[in-house]
Amino acid sequence: MQQLVIASNNTGKIREIRSLIESIELLSLNDIGFTDEIAEPFHTFEENALAKASAIYQFCGKNVFADDSGLCVNSLNGAPGVDSAHYSGERNDEKNLQKVLKELEHSEDRSAFYKAVICLIWGGEVYYFEGICDGVLIKEKIGEEGFGYDPVFIPAGYDKTFGELPLSIKNELSHRGKAVRQMIAFLESELAG
Ligand code: IMP
Repeated sequence: MQQLVIASNNTGKIREIRSLIESIELLSLNDIGFTDEIAEPFHTFEENALAKASAIYQFCGKNVFADDSGLCVNSLNGAPGVDSAHYSGERNDEKNLQKVLKELEHSEDRSAFYKAVICLIWGGEVYYFEGICDGVLIKEKIGEEGFGYDPVFIPAGYDKTFGELPLSIKNELSHRGKAVRQMIAFLESELAG
């Protein structure tokens, strides 16, 4: 079976991606013995995803992909965006979410979208896949599923948050699900090839 490394230590993300990919053996950073923090110093999802994938490719030489993702709030000019994981100044989902809610307190426009960009290094070549999921942010958290901003994010066309919807539905709708499915289609054509 072909192997592919996921350049992430985020257990929520890894769980979601593992549930989507069956035909390839997925290795985590633990599996390859990579324990360092990878810097994400850039201002776009694409650059950060490339930085993460390249760091791991240089470490182990294996096929690898990295996902960089975040929540973009329209009335906050796209913030927290690439800073979603540490918007409050800390890598703390609860504090980050509360900061966004506070900033939106007086906003009528509560529309937002999640964006995910995957950078895949496959056979030494670099490929990108992108997914977007539109929605709105409610004022108080509902639900225990998902992670990050999910308890306040209602995807377009639904009346429940990602904190309430099961993973199977989140995967169908989510930014990450869309980007991962594009990558899987690419990998399937490569493996068939
Ligand atoms: P990354 O590890 O730099 O890609 O940061 C991703 C951050 O964006 C997470 O820590 C969350 O704050 C936010 N985020 C991305 N995708 C999701 C999602 O599916 N649900 C909730 N929050 C997300």
